Amino acid sequence: MPYTMSIQITPFYHQDTGTWTYVVNDPSCNHCAVIDPVLDYELSSGKASYQSIQKVIDFINAQHLQLQWILETHAHADHLTAAQYVKDSLGGKIIIGAGIMDVQQHFATSLNLDIPIDGSQFDILVHKGDTLSLGRYEFIAHPTPGHTDDSMSYQIAGHIFIGDTFFHPELGTARCDFPGGSAEKLFSSLKFLIAFPEDYCLWLCHDYPKDREPVAKTTVAEQKNNIHFRQSGGNPEAYAQLRNERDDSLQVPKLIYPSLQVNIRAGQFPDAEPNGCKYLKMPFSVDKP
Ligand SMILES: [Fe+2]
Repeated sequence: MPYTMSIQITPFYHQDTGTWTYVVNDPSCNHCAVIDPVLDYELSSGKASYQSIQKVIDFINAQHLQLQWILETHAHADHLTAAQYVKDSLGGKIIIGAGIMDVQQHFATSLNLDIPIDGSQFDILVHKGDTLSLGRYEFIAHPTPGHTDDSMSYQIAGHIFIGDTFFHPELGTARCDFPGGSAEKLFSSLKFLIAFPEDYCLWLCHDYPKDREPVAKTTVAEQKNNIHFRQSGGNPEAYAQLRNERDDSLQVPKLIYPSLQVNIRAGQFPDAEPNGCKYLKMPFSVDKP
């Protein structure tokens, strides 16, 4: 089969949040999927915009592709999803792991949100081994929890979109200190991913380069040398200790509260209040002296 007929993957890098969005298509037909679309959001003004995701939509239109699936690897805490805008613009169904219900439960309680916590904002909740067809290929859903409860990796042929599990091999792995996070679970997910053949491509959810171009694609062989694996000697207890100590030093992501309030609604915004304006909540507390 000529190369041009194999599956096509086009990455788009969102500079402000270091996030990769992917368009995946089978060139033998016009069907495509979008993975982890990002909304532009300015924290200080509370303004969202569509400049970045519009480039992805323009690409899909220019290629005459028909969108089937909008895949979320998890409810992100560092950026707002553009899934609803993509759906409104191009159609398709929004997919996330069934663990989203646990994430909704937590944040609906902690932020006192009056929202359904049954995942009904999404079109399909996927479980282990569920498949979604894309032309001659199919996505297979693989739960890879640890960063969050709803974390799902999506395999298609020899490619896996791994969400927040491995980062660039020199940067390590995803944090595990969000509600439902677990370094022990993430270690099991990492082991699951590197059990695939060494030439399988592991596509990153993020990259945060300091003095190089951002990297989207890694391989199983490369991730076997991931710095956090090397530092922990591949030992689960040592990995958990390393991960937890590192997480203790990390700050809360600056977009966590706006992100979660939009992302657990599958990209829909809160209802307008009686004055016609929409608001996002921010918890407030005071450290006693
Ligand atoms: Fe994340």
